[in-house]
Amino acid sequence: MQLLDVEEIEEEPPEECAQMHPPNLGFTEDHRWLSMAQKDRMASPVDVIVVGAGNRGETYSHFASLQPQRMRVIGVADPRKFAREKLQKQHRIADVNVFADWRGIVQREKFADAVFICTPDRQHKNPAVALAKKGYHILLEKPMAVTAEDCTEIVRTCIQNGVMLTVCHVLRYDPVIHKIKVLMDSGAIGDPVHIQHLEPVGFFHFAHSFVRGNWRNEAESSFALLAKSCHDIDLIHHWAGGRRCLKVSSFGSLSHFRKEKRPPGAADRCLDCPVEESCPYSARKIYLDRVKQGCVGWPVSVICSSSLPDIESVTEALKSGPYGRCVYQCDNDVCTNQVVNMEFEGGLTAAFSMVAFTEEICKRRTTIYGSKGELSCDGHEIRVFDFLTGRATKHTAETYAPGAFGMGGHGGADYQLVEAFISAVASGDASFIRSGPEETLLSHKLVFEAERSRLESKVVFCGTDQD
Ligand SMILES: NC(=O)c1ccc[n+]([C@@H]2O[C@H](COP(=O)([O-])OP(=O)(O)OC[C@H]3O[C@@H](n4cnc5c(N)ncnc54)[C@H](O)[C@@H]3O)[C@@H](O)[C@H]2O)c1
Repeated sequence: MQLLDVEEIEEEPPEECAQMHPPNLGFTEDHRWLSMAQKDRMASPVDVIVVGAGNRGETYSHFASLQPQRMRVIGVADPRKFAREKLQKQHRIADVNVFADWRGIVQREKFADAVFICTPDRQHKNPAVALAKKGYHILLEKPMAVTAEDCTEIVRTCIQNGVMLTVCHVLRYDPVIHKIKVLMDSGAIGDPVHIQHLEPVGFFHFAHSFVRGNWRNEAESSFALLAKSCHDIDLIHHWAGGRRCLKVSSFGSLSHFRKEKRPPGAADRCLDCPVEESCPYSARKIYLDRVKQGCVGWPVSVICSSSLPDIESVTEALKSGPYGRCVYQCDNDVCTNQVVNMEFEGGLTAAFSMVAFTEEICKRRTTIYGSKGELSCDGHEIRVFDFLTGRATKHTAETYAPGAFGMGGHGGADYQLVEAFISAVASGDASFIRSGPEETLLSHKLVFEAERSRLESKVVFCGTDQD
């Protein structure tokens, strides 16, 4: 047997090629050969209303600025004046199409092709159901909703009303992650036997979002596995390739970010804290030091909800807002670490870990063990080791991440997601969508079943209980 001494790099087509044929994202169908009627429909831009002009809504709407011939933002709804006026200005939206609440859109005759629903987790179901009934195609942020029943209702309503639904499982549009499935389907590792997948959330990212921020408290948003890791369970479910999950078990808890871990002498707010210097979670380090260095993107941009971030507004936000609080004195209750074990039809097993306390931020690591080889991915590169030849090959995929999407755009996947949705709406061809209703509903149900296992300390036999 030849020893591991040869490495081959297989490249995806270069960027200009991807741009020439933007819809060809590696689906089984080749969208370069669209019918004339489809091409005609794709010639006019898709009109979109953004519901929730926060971090995600604004990011996705950049597509209109980059591709004005393909998409226009013609409406916005957000109770925050600053947020809706910012989007209105960016896209020159007529006053009549600016709303303080999504219900304003429902009261009007349908006036756009599609809506982007980017409201907080607990405010997905009602606008999704109401706007599907009005006939809008829907790009819906994850999680679809916070109960399995509500997720089912969204899917049912979209199907009944003949509207397309794309759930923002952005990783499904990441070219490297997509390549994993392409390699598996080509038989590169034989029959998959075990999937190991890690989501390292990142120590300051976790403190920002899940201790001080929007996803810290289950009653206000959702449990961590749904809020953070529905992406990962969806990927595992996707890699399992249509095999049904039979059993799931899960363990996890909130560690460290608890009142009893508060260092002696710590103050309630980092700006007043005498021991702040020795704390890696200090808000001064996470936000103020960044803005002093001129970094005003995420996470700094999130903490000034009614103004642009600068030293004054960030200091004020840390003095009075939620992001200046001591991480040991917050009302957080979501898990910092959770494991999920799954058994699929045919004996395929999967083990997933989510961990808060990591250096890497969301740079997932995956190893898939198959009967003929082993595939591993660090988020940038895939390595396949072939048991027969003893050779390893490396695979990459070109990622197109235009400026405005950039680093905050999940390495270009946000852009690809919007592009797929816009292509689907423009052409009337739902096969552009990778994260459509039925498959996403199944993976969301798996998340609810895993969480029930954790809460009830039992193995859940999938599809047999109330979820
Ligand atoms: N796909 C991903 O990878 C990803 C990443 C981050 C967040 N998310 C999800 O995206 C959603 C939005 O997150 P975000 O970070 O943009 O939050 P955000 O708080 O920045 O934005 C939410 C916006 O919705 C607005 N809103 C609240 N009630 C509304 C109403 N009744 N009508 C219209 N707008 C309303 C808020 O004012 C706010 O501007 C959440 O569900 C979140 O879990 C997804």
